[in-house]
Amino acid sequence: MNAIELLKEDHRETLELLERLETLEDEMDAEDDGIEVLPTELFNQLKAALTLHTQLEERIFYPALRAFAETREMIPEALAEHQAVDELLEEMAQLSPHEEEFQNKLEELREQVEHHIEEEEDEMFPKAEELCGQQRLDELGQQLQQMKQQRSQAATTRRP
Ligand SMILES: [Fe+2]
Ligand SMILES: [Fe+2]
Repeated sequence: MNAIELLKEDHRETLELLERLETLEDEMDAEDDGIEVLPTELFNQLKAALTLHTQLEERIFYPALRAFAETREMIPEALAEHQAVDELLEEMAQLSPHEEEFQNKLEELREQVEHHIEEEEDEMFPKAEELCGQQRLDELGQQLQQMKQQRSQAATTRRP
């Protein structure tokens, strides 16, 4: 899998988690309590997925884009958007999914994430494809895959 395929797959997974969390929120409104653990778990999963994804991009993919002026100039805005998503996730982690404030922030998060993914997939990735070449994208894909595996192993061994 080359870097762009891998990052796009991450995007799909993230959007799916967001959607599941939103659906769960709707269902929860209709029901009693007792399922608190589900949305919290799902949120933690989403937070971990998004954090890992932005780290993969910031450590491996974006640095490779610094080699070309056209993609280099896209990086500052992308980093600022990662930062905004990070902050939102931290704020949400302090709230219970039952709170209205959480729902508002969830909506905001979806908008930000969708906007960011759109920019990457419609502007940054096509340019990267054009400038980096297939071989470089394959190499970067391998590096991304490796970092992903290391992280998930680390997460598993940390568990009691
Ligand atoms: Fe990104
Ligand atoms: Fe991304």
